[in-house]
Amino acid sequence: MTEGLLLVGASGLAREILAAGITGVVGFVDDNAELHGTDVAGIPVVGTVDDAVTRDEALLVCVGPSGVRRNVVRRLLKAGVPEARFATYVARSARIGRTSTVKAGSILLDGVVVTADTSIGRHVVAMPNCVITHDCILEDFTTLAAGAAIGGFARIHEAAYIGMNASVRQSVVIGTAATIGMGAVVLGDVPHDQTWAGVPARQLEVTP
Ligand SMILES: CC(C)(COP(=O)(O)OP(=O)(O)OC[C@H]1O[C@@H](n2cnc3c(N)ncnc32)[C@H](O)[C@@H]1OP(=O)(O)O)[C@@H](O)C(=O)NCCC(=O)NCCS
Repeated sequence: MTEGLLLVGASGLAREILAAGITGVVGFVDDNAELHGTDVAGIPVVGTVDDAVTRDEALLVCVGPSGVRRNVVRRLLKAGVPEARFATYVARSARIGRTSTVKAGSILLDGVVVTADTSIGRHVVAMPNCVITHDCILEDFTTLAAGAAIGGFARIHEAAYIGMNASVRQSVVIGTAATIGMGAVVLGDVPHDQTWAGVPARQLEVTP
């Protein structure tokens, strides 16, 4: 692997990571052909996601929506990208308790606090000022938008999305690919694939 980092997805999340002070970024890859040959935040867009496969920089997948991020990572793995190529980004002002763990591919932005004995999976994104308290499990590809707070022993299953400033009560289980609306107060378990919002949170009927 050569020096340098490619950001996969010239997204708002990618620009947030640049603004947070990440170093070593040499380019973006993005499937939007209109971006090819242009600069985003002063960094060149050098090709498509597939072009990343044959290059050899480390990769950071900067795609905000959980399910889309999971698809991009699966596509890269299927094309032969080894897990070892995925970088992790933890902003300098984020704080990870010494008994907590963060797996490869994850992105923790400014002011994120992970307290004790919590496990953060692969390709998790926690936006600024999220607080993830003790003994939580955030499975792979979960996303916490800015200011989300997760109580102790909560489990967030794969690819779930927790909206801005939502609060999840201790010991609650959020199902796979569930969505929690911004500002929600989640008091009980949320089944997979459902969208819940409000105070207290209730299921929203979302039109497919
Ligand atoms: C919950 C959410 C996913 C629903 O989105 P949606 O399916 O497009 O829903 P709509 O905007 O059509 O709203 C549907 C209904 O839910 C209500 N609603 C939407 N979001 C809500 C929320 N966060 N809290 C309470 N009610 C909400 C709307 O008022 C509307 O009610 P009505 O049918 O009585 O008029 C979305 O509003 C949300 O909160 N997303 C998270 C946003 C976020 O955190 N972004 C971070 C970006 S970095």
